Amino acid sequence: MKASELLKPANREEAALLDKLDVKRLPRHVAVIMDGNGRWAQKRHLPRVAGHRAGVKTARTVIETCSHLRISCLTLYAFSMENWRRPQAEVDFLMRLLREYLKRELPEIHKNNVRLLVIGRPEQLPEGVRADIQDAMKLTARNTGLTLIVALNYGGRAELVDAFNAMLDNARKNCLSAFSADEQAISEHLYTAGLPDPDLLIRTSGEMRVSNFLLWQIAYAEIYVTETLWPDFSRPRLLEAFLDFQKRERRYGGLSSAKGRAVSAAAGKASQESED
Ligand code: FPP
Repeated sequence: MKASELLKPANREEAALLDKLDVKRLPRHVAVIMDGNGRWAQKRHLPRVAGHRAGVKTARTVIETCSHLRISCLTLYAFSMENWRRPQAEVDFLMRLLREYLKRELPEIHKNNVRLLVIGRPEQLPEGVRADIQDAMKLTARNTGLTLIVALNYGGRAELVDAFNAMLDNARKNCLSAFSADEQAISEHLYTAGLPDPDLLIRTSGEMRVSNFLLWQIAYAEIYVTETLWPDFSRPRLLEAFLDFQKRERRYGGLSSAKGRAVSAAAGKASQESED
């Protein structure tokens, strides 16, 4: 199947990018650090919150694109535990924006068979936000298309702490005195239990940091950093990130297939010579 059969190109640029895209080699899980809303607004002499509003539009485009391309999971870093340090008015605005987004977009999300999950520590979130999230997750729980994971009041280290404490609690409850964890057990206690790890981590606006995002899960992710600010991260920019991903060779600590063949051939030759 061609990418343009899954996603109608809006213009020539999109058509050309879709033409190059191999739908069989798309990332299964895309994680995004949406950065640069403030700078986008500043460049236009607008208040920071205008950047966040524009950022919501980009989120919609990215969700729609991933959904049409049949990508399994998309994780968006919407609010980190560190974001509470922002001015109260901006924090309040972001919380209101999220509720507004859910209210407006949920019917469409549900219609498109998207399943919504929210990860992070819900306790500190305002009651109204928590209630809306619960309702949205309940409504979409049985959907089988894209899984949209929104990281909200999320921190990668906090997630690991929560996972270890959950494992220790289990061990105590079951009176397991000699308890030891392994990688699978840790994965199964993360907020993302049961989901594949991200294959591609995108960060907009040029910063070379992972900012406490999915620390365990991105162990083997390909990282794509673009200077584009999040509100400008249009569909063509996302398709470029996918094309870049398709050029990478994922080795998971092994050798590239060509190098592997060369090494095996050399090893074969060496053992042949030692036998001669
Ligand atoms: C970073 O820009 C972005 C955020 C703090 C997250 C907010 C994201 C949105 C509003 C997008 C919408 C998401 C959903 C799921 C509806 P920044 O303020 O850090 O930018 P700066 O680094 O330029 O100041």
